[in-house]
Amino acid sequence: MHLVTSAELRAALARVPSLPFAPQPSPIEPLPRLSAALGGGPRLLVKRDDAMPFAFGGNKVRKLALVAARAQADGADTLITAGAVQSNHARVTAAAAAKLGMRAVLVVNGRPLARPAANALLDSLLGAEVVCVPTREERAPKMREIAERARSAGRRPFEIPVGASTPLGALGFVNAVAELLDQIPAPDVIVHATSSGGTQAGLVAGCRLLGLSTRILGISADDEASLLQVQVQGIVGGIAELLDVDPGILARGTPIEIDDRFVGGGYGIETEASREAIALAARTDAIFLDPTYTGKAMAGLIAYVRQRRFTDGQTVLFWHTGGQVGLFA
Ligand SMILES: Cc1ncc(COP(=O)(O)O)c(C=O)c1O
Repeated sequence: MHLVTSAELRAALARVPSLPFAPQPSPIEPLPRLSAALGGGPRLLVKRDDAMPFAFGGNKVRKLALVAARAQADGADTLITAGAVQSNHARVTAAAAAKLGMRAVLVVNGRPLARPAANALLDSLLGAEVVCVPTREERAPKMREIAERARSAGRRPFEIPVGASTPLGALGFVNAVAELLDQIPAPDVIVHATSSGGTQAGLVAGCRLLGLSTRILGISADDEASLLQVQVQGIVGGIAELLDVDPGILARGTPIEIDDRFVGGGYGIETEASREAIALAARTDAIFLDPTYTGKAMAGLIAYVRQRRFTDGQTVLFWHTGGQVGLFA
């Protein structure tokens, strides 16, 4: 039984302002050659958020469509966010700002690049101001400081936390669950890269609201599972208010499953398994994955298939969250 009907969910989502950054559903494709290369197993599908047209696409487009709409409604003239030097989220935020005629200030941890490449190159083409700080911990205070300065200069800044992983940003992935169900029956499992938690929170919330039995398996690109679990649950909890639904519905149902065994040496550091996954996805079904997120998520999926942790009759959907720009870093 559905806890919220699909029509009720759509009506609730339609009440939240959103910009048309992703007007079409992202395609879903089968992965027959990857499946054959793995010796069979479950039916594999891929949801191609990497193929979204806006700003080289990816999961951040879904989040920014909502978060930037809120910034615009608040009368903001500057978007301030943070991430790593090669942050996909920073690139999409810079693109959203350009599209809306706003300034973008990106606080990134790392050294300034002598010759910007990949996301950093796109950030500069998009006209974003990039402020480097030495460590991750210094990003949030620097964002606040920049916002304060902008306010005293009479500007109207809008701060977006890392990854736009707020309940509002995550709503982009509640929307995505509704989009998916218009395309195919609910798959048995969705596998995706997880890091700041918003993508997983939206997918889990969508499944909980509709009472779907789909497993949502996040493969961590960064933090330990226990930390991410708390982060994701916190975001899921905040979605009830935005949609004006009973918080009880979002407090139970679909588990928050996170596997942190594919991170390897750390965030952004390749592993043997991620290198294999990137090569295999490209050579079999011409899918380009990135070294930081989707390569590790696919390494997880491949390991699960090889270890027969899915059954043959199951449909497993790999949610490609983008990031392929990172191949050119
Ligand atoms: C390509 C890509 N995939 C997955 C993720 C993880 O998504 P989230 O931050 O919503 O957990 C990110 C961002 O962190 C990303 O850039």
